[in-house]
Amino acid sequence: MSDNVHIFDHPLIHHKLSIIRDKNTGTREFRTIVSEIAALMCYEATRDMPTQEIEVETPVGVAKCQKLAGKKVAIVPILRAGLGMVDGMLSMLPSAKVGHVGLYRDPETLAPVTYYCKMPPDIADRDVIIVDPMLATGGSASAAVELLKGYGCKHIKLMNILAAPEGIAAMQKAHPDVEIYVAAVDDHLNEHGYIVPGLGDAGDRIFGTK
Ligand code: PRP
Ligand code: URA
Repeated sequence: MSDNVHIFDHPLIHHKLSIIRDKNTGTREFRTIVSEIAALMCYEATRDMPTQEIEVETPVGVAKCQKLAGKKVAIVPILRAGLGMVDGMLSMLPSAKVGHVGLYRDPETLAPVTYYCKMPPDIADRDVIIVDPMLATGGSASAAVELLKGYGCKHIKLMNILAAPEGIAAMQKAHPDVEIYVAAVDDHLNEHGYIVPGLGDAGDRIFGTK
């Protein structure tokens, strides 16, 4: 896997992943854990955020501290399933703004169809983290990145819980400048474009629609 793909090897993330992969895990627990995984991944995916040194008066003395250097961030979930990761991200980045991209895969062609887009007005000035639990063919993620580049965004990261090798390859071909953060890379896609072994349909499992 090349340098722009970050695969997580943290035991907490993998423990939680084992729960959401389980077909017997219900909607409530699934939703909670997706959010928790997003928070843990956010912690790692923001490791390169710039900081500045400040002095803070403690009750006992003066401490030299590192404070975030004021870089503005936007979280952009791909609807629907990406919504499940937003609260976890905001628990780590409470000042981030949130943009939304509505995309679904045409069930026949698997091509992404855009049906909604709403971004913060200063999105071009923000570091963007796109969130979506699944990177399958890579069509939805590529379309979301394309859309954000159209707004003038220059620093875009993509965060997925599970990816197929096909999706990573497609993203690297279309957008080699985008850093990809993924908890695990699975084996392959099946004939319906589902990740195997995967976790099923993330949107349906988060929202209880099946
Ligand atoms: C799922 C998932 C991704 C997309 C990944 O969404 O949440 O957005 O599929 O597949 P791709 O990499 O092949 O594009 P889906 O289209 O099922 O929509 P939903 O979230 O509204 O259920
Ligand atoms: N979207 C999902 O929700 N699951 C998959 O396995 C592939 C795409």
